[in-house]
Amino acid sequence: MKKTIISVLVLCNILNASPELNTGEKVFKAYCWGCHHQTSVAFGPSFAQMANKRTIGEIQGHIISPKAMYKQLGHKRSVMPAFGDKLSQKEIDLITEFILSFKGAI
Ligand code: HEC
Repeated sequence: MKKTIISVLVLCNILNASPELNTGEKVFKAYCWGCHHQTSVAFGPSFAQMANKRTIGEIQGHIISPKAMYKQLGHKRSVMPAFGDKLSQKEIDLITEFILSFKGAI
C-alpha cells in the first residue's frame, strides 16, 4: 500500500513537472541572451551596466513592463518585449539576482 502511494505521488510529480526554470542563468539563456550579454553591450545594455546603476525595483519593473519604464530609465524608445506574462515571479526574482551578481564586473 505504501509503495502504491509513493508510486502515485512520483507519477503525479512527473506529470505536473512545471516548465519553470530554476536558475537565473537558465532564464537568461532562454529569454534574454539574444539581446543582453553579461558584461558587454549587445542589442540592449549589459547586465553589469544594469547592476551598477539600477535598483531591484527598476530592473523588475522593466522586465515586467518595459513600455512603462523605459522613459524613467532614460531610454528614448523601447523595443524590448514585456516578460510580465511569460515569466513567473520566481523566475523574475532569479533573473534579477543573476543580473545583480554582475555588479562591479565592469
Ligand atoms: C528583443 C531584444 C531583447 C530581449 C529578448 C530582452 N531585452 Fe532587455 N532590453 C532590450 C533593449 C533594446 C533595452 C533598452 C530599453 C528598451 O528597449 O526597452 C532593454 C532594457 C532592459 C533593462 C533596463 C536596462 C537599464 O538599466 O536601463 C532590463 C532590466 C532588461 N532589459 C532586462 C531584460 C531581461 C531580464 C530579459 C530576459 C528575460 C530581457 N531584458 C530580454 C532588449 C531586449
